[in-house]
Amino acid sequence: MKQTRILAALLISSFCIHVAAQQRNIDQKIDSILRLMTVDEKIGQLNLYAGRMNPTGPITMRENDEDEIRRGHVGMVFNIVGAKRTREIQRIAVEESRLKIPLLIGFDVVHGYRTIFPIPLGESASWDLDLMKRTAKASADEASAMGIHWTFAPMVDVCHDARWGRIMEGGGEDPYLVSLITKAKVEGYQGADLKEMGSVMACAKHFAAYGATIDGRDYNTADISDATLRNIYLPPFKAAVESGVSTLMAGYHELNGIPTSASSYLMTDILRNEWKFDGFVVSDWGSIRETATHGYAKDRKDAAMKSFNAGLDVDMESSAYISHLKELTSEGRVSLENIENSVRKVLRMKYLTGVMDNPYRYCNQQREDTIILKKEYLKLAREAACKSMVLLKNKNQVLPLSENLKSIAVIGPLADSKKDMSGSWSKSCDSKDMITLLEALTTQIGSTTKIKYEKGCDVQGDDRSGFAAAIKVASKSDVILVAMGESKELSGEASSRSDISLPGIQKELLKELKKLNRPIVLILFNGRPLSIPWEADNVDAILEAWFPGNEAGNALADVLFGRFNPQGKLTVSFPRSVGQVPIFYNHKNTGRPEGGGEKFFVTRYIDNSNQPLFPFGYGLSYTTFEYSEIKLEAPQLTYDGILHATVKVKNTGKYKGVETIQLYIRDLVASSTRPVKELKHFQKVELTPGEEKEVKFEIKEEDLRFWNNNKQYFSEPGKFQLFIGSDSESVKKAEFELL
Ligand code: NOJ
Repeated sequence: MKQTRILAALLISSFCIHVAAQQRNIDQKIDSILRLMTVDEKIGQLNLYAGRMNPTGPITMRENDEDEIRRGHVGMVFNIVGAKRTREIQRIAVEESRLKIPLLIGFDVVHGYRTIFPIPLGESASWDLDLMKRTAKASADEASAMGIHWTFAPMVDVCHDARWGRIMEGGGEDPYLVSLITKAKVEGYQGADLKEMGSVMACAKHFAAYGATIDGRDYNTADISDATLRNIYLPPFKAAVESGVSTLMAGYHELNGIPTSASSYLMTDILRNEWKFDGFVVSDWGSIRETATHGYAKDRKDAAMKSFNAGLDVDMESSAYISHLKELTSEGRVSLENIENSVRKVLRMKYLTGVMDNPYRYCNQQREDTIILKKEYLKLAREAACKSMVLLKNKNQVLPLSENLKSIAVIGPLADSKKDMSGSWSKSCDSKDMITLLEALTTQIGSTTKIKYEKGCDVQGDDRSGFAAAIKVASKSDVILVAMGESKELSGEASSRSDISLPGIQKELLKELKKLNRPIVLILFNGRPLSIPWEADNVDAILEAWFPGNEAGNALADVLFGRFNPQGKLTVSFPRSVGQVPIFYNHKNTGRPEGGGEKFFVTRYIDNSNQPLFPFGYGLSYTTFEYSEIKLEAPQLTYDGILHATVKVKNTGKYKGVETIQLYIRDLVASSTRPVKELKHFQKVELTPGEEKEVKFEIKEEDLRFWNNNKQYFSEPGKFQLFIGSDSESVKKAEFELL
């Protein structure tokens, strides 16, 4: 044993020596390059230009980007994809620029490159971290085969506001879960070593609290307390840094009066000084020049100075650094030494990714041809889509469907819409690769079941001319499958909604179908929680499918016919009405909570409940699970001890199923108030019918820490409630004390 430990220590120390030597080696090379560089060339490394393919922001008209690369005025590019095109752009940098420094090539690979996985909000509902790591790895592999070294993902913005279109890009409302997802994603994209074939640099964005923008409008202002920033919005970014993320992206929004792209509090005090982040920070598209529009900088030059001095290394599409940093150094308002430090960070990444040694490592046409849409990636996409679906309602066990049905009516604008299956942030996919619900049903279901399809209406608009045909088909079927929701453009960047119910006249059609008195299964496609109280009361089953990606139809058929038992759990609360938004399970108690003796003078709405329609953590299965009371090993937890909490979970239904068992705590009295519940742990357990398992959790003092108003991250002794259950509302309860 002792010998093994000595050997392990020797191995670790020789590894550390090796890493340190490699680092020294890279530093020396960077020193030599810096000695050769002009000031313009140095600033050029901090300049990121968008290509004209797949625009993801307002195109900036410039004379000639390629000449800028030849002059050494561009250090990296994005939105240029394909082995051939990236090879050509790289060739200009390494053959026609004076110092021949290769470019880094980026792209928003948010939930897949050509193989599209479920949107991140959907995938988060799987609570399957290993799956999320595998889909990130597969996305990186495909993207790298298209010449890409750097993805602008994961988006790790916690969000409480379903109106915000970008809620679809993140992992939901809980900081703990989003932090774990962040780690999985960073590890998946980057691999163990950036030099590994198929790894790409990750970018945690948008630093920070972009998900807190007021009234859910994109690009809007966030105004939150420091405690909320630290406890809710920063943990996923910290997790990204601790997982070795290469880059971070600042945001468009302002936070507490300062545009995040010029915030030295975020980028220097927290990121560099507290967290010791050593990668580089990139702006968002044009977000440096927009600090002037915010009213924080006088003009683009002032914006360049403020953003750079705040710690923002790389300028995406503002051309502020390349136009003004040199002048600012000669005026003494920006230090050349700081510019060199930022250049060092960029060049270091170029070495670590292997681009410096082999600029064309990812420009390989043969690899592109073999990797894109590989069979194993499509299989993974189907697994991810199945696991991300959430069964919201299943009255009288209308699901799973029997394979012996005589007729199925398939109705709705999303039943056969290839273009919508990918959801937003999927510019690199080809709609023709997507499999719709209708396609999958017609190819998979035996000839004894008739499948009749009518679209009925569009997602938006008021054309009712398709109603009659849809009603006719539905009236003759054993079950009506209705595929409704949002089209893919209704969520994502710049796609906030002030009404989050089913768009257009879809509900009207649903009401007509309801009159037929036949079982209705509503399949929802959407990039945000929808408010659907009427639907929840009136249809028989609701399956939340999000935007499932390439294998949408196949995965839906798996779930609908019970070949896959749904296991997804919501990672965001579904509101009853838009008026409840922002709504989240980890809210504070207030001085006048509901539920006591007083009915009127309490925190509530007079026209609606306080509770969401479907809470955080909620999701049904075709089977049922029963929880025992919590068994606590001791009533107290010591500062450096471990408290074990156990529950028995039994499958009391007819199907094999997977349950996600969630553990929440509440700090009852603290120096600043704490939420009524906070997720601290979870475990996924598979149980066959009748099977019971004991599930054990470990609670440590560090699980109880929080950022208090004295700007300290501490736990405080006292009483805690502990909850274990199947969602944030259906829980068993116990109590313990931290000594
Ligand atoms: C704007 C988006 O906010 C950001 O997330 C994205 O990475 C950039 N555009 C680049 O496409």
